Amino acid sequence: MVKEETYEKYTELVEALRHHDFKYYIEAKPEISDYEYDVLYKELEEIEKGHPQWILPSSPTQVISDSTHSTFKRKAHSAPMLSLANTYNREELCDFVDRLHKLLETKTAPICAELKMDGLAISLRYENGVLVHGITRGDGKKGDDITQNIKTIKSLPYKLKGKNIPEVLEVRAEVFMPLQVFQELNRVKEESGEEIWANPRNAAAGSLKLLDSKEVYRRKLDFIAFGIIEDSSRQVKYQHEVPAYLKGLGFPTFSEDQIAVVETAEQILEYAAKIEKQRSEMRFEIDGIVLKLDSIDKRKALGTTAKVPRWAVAYKFAAEKATTTIESITVQVGRTGVLTPVAELAPVFLAGSTIARATLHNMDEIRRKDIRIGDTVWIEKGGDVIPKVTLVDFEKRPKNSTPWNMPLECPSCGERVVREEGEVATRCINHKECTAQNIKKLIFFASKPAMDIENLGDKVVEKLVDSGLVQKFSDIYKLTSDDLLTLEGFKEKSADNLIDAIEKSKDIEFYRLILALGIKFVGKGTAEVIAAHAKTLEAFMNLSELEIVDLDGVGEKVAHSVIDYLAHPTHIQELKDLEQLGVKPIVPKVATNSDHPFFGKTFVLTGSLEGYTRTEAGSLIKERGGKVSSSVSAKTDFLLYGEEAGSKLKKAQKLGVALMTEEEFNKSL
Ligand code: IVH
Repeated sequence: MVKEETYEKYTELVEALRHHDFKYYIEAKPEISDYEYDVLYKELEEIEKGHPQWILPSSPTQVISDSTHSTFKRKAHSAPMLSLANTYNREELCDFVDRLHKLLETKTAPICAELKMDGLAISLRYENGVLVHGITRGDGKKGDDITQNIKTIKSLPYKLKGKNIPEVLEVRAEVFMPLQVFQELNRVKEESGEEIWANPRNAAAGSLKLLDSKEVYRRKLDFIAFGIIEDSSRQVKYQHEVPAYLKGLGFPTFSEDQIAVVETAEQILEYAAKIEKQRSEMRFEIDGIVLKLDSIDKRKALGTTAKVPRWAVAYKFAAEKATTTIESITVQVGRTGVLTPVAELAPVFLAGSTIARATLHNMDEIRRKDIRIGDTVWIEKGGDVIPKVTLVDFEKRPKNSTPWNMPLECPSCGERVVREEGEVATRCINHKECTAQNIKKLIFFASKPAMDIENLGDKVVEKLVDSGLVQKFSDIYKLTSDDLLTLEGFKEKSADNLIDAIEKSKDIEFYRLILALGIKFVGKGTAEVIAAHAKTLEAFMNLSELEIVDLDGVGEKVAHSVIDYLAHPTHIQELKDLEQLGVKPIVPKVATNSDHPFFGKTFVLTGSLEGYTRTEAGSLIKERGGKVSSSVSAKTDFLLYGEEAGSKLKKAQKLGVALMTEEEFNKSL
């Protein structure tokens, strides 16, 4: 495609890119995908190559976008924090390899290949083994001093470990929000009608900028260190030795199989293909790989341009995107009444699965992108599993198309919907009688993070509500096998299994019950704090607003919502009914005895135990200062297993996790 290159076009492009830089770096709310940005950037580079006399000092190719935030102290970097040039194909990789050979006057140059983390760059300085500061990239010369905030990252060493601690050490690292945390926080945001983050990178950027470090702590950020800028002890000579060295000092970094030493473009592509296969299993987002000349000494000979080093490049993965058309827009009603518009798409294959729906989030989002029925759109899979519509192809818009509007009435109950000032969400406020809300509430009540009633999923809840057997939470505990047998699809065994699962859920940690009630703005963290404070259902029902506001990390908005909930006599009656029907919330006592062998240890429970339900065993562990996790990983200390233990036991054996029988557990208690 040959485009006419005029000076006017050039300045427009500079302006557009500066605008997108602002959205991305300052507001952490990008309007276009990284790929789309890169296309524009390439176009700009091409024009500047052909017309060097046009180059503006403010062109994004000449300056690193300033991402500093006026409320933090600015601090100078000891060495410029550079960016990386991008490559996208074999040809560009060959160019990079050839250039290395030419500049170094050799025929081979080992290159270290590693992951390109999609987070935020930070520089960490340690003096005499102690963290002195953490600075963001900023304009490359000066950045924001965010030491207070990065100290909330649990995996970040405040003091270095090991024997050979250098007097001065400055490392470069990437801060990110783990995908699981991102998805959970976004789910909570969506439910409470707040604007959601576009991707984990923005979530991490937004979180690091918060002035309240306590809130940053709640965002559960993590990081990975990958570069050494200064090391007074000069212990490493090659990039491939960096991870092991940093690990020894206590930093989280790349594992051995996440890096490779390669020499040719073919080997680089082979490594890239291997990493791309593992991409969906990773707990963080990556957007490509980074290639660095392995010899650290030889880098000096190559030097840097104003923006990027000549000894390294990124190789970016193709974005996971596709085009399709919007056949209709439907509206879903969530459990708090939030209306979510959903695009029903002509099915299209995208990153391993067929996509037929994409969330459009809310009315503001639809307006901003001007999305209409009949439009041809680009869809993309971001950090979330739910695909999103990124762009409309306006040229393909049908002539008779009209803007879409949110219905004025709830599609489930027909009541008028409202949009409160300052909220992005439109809601159905008929909380009592809206069937869609009721079904969603019941589904959430039974779900894994809440009451964890196995086999009580979406379909079964729908059937129970349709048949009139269940209307409120307590009805679940009145169900009998005979009731279930009247429903289509239930046989004796499946009916008994569900009744057993319901029975089991009666012994439940208190916070889960509070979470399960679906009180607006009350997520897991808040529920935990309230449960630990109230301890009994009785006390919970009598909480005062002042008491709640006083709790760590609970604000006025949340306190108000809880009090609002408890002020409804039907809610109180429901809690009493649940109690009467045998729901017995447990609050684990907090351990004070750090000598107990369970103290600080992480347990996973599997199979059925003779003497305890899993919740009871979990409470006993927590009372002794241990933690209980739901999945086995390298971080698990003990697997407590009972009869019919399955895949978790196998995984634990594979990972070499210590196994514990019920008898051993009893003894240790
Ligand atoms: S090295 C001078 N290694 O990518 C070398 N950077 O686009 C530049 N990034 O600001 C840094 N993963 O935040 C390096 N394995 C990795 C990286 C990485 C992600 C980020 C980094 C940098 C940006 C450049």
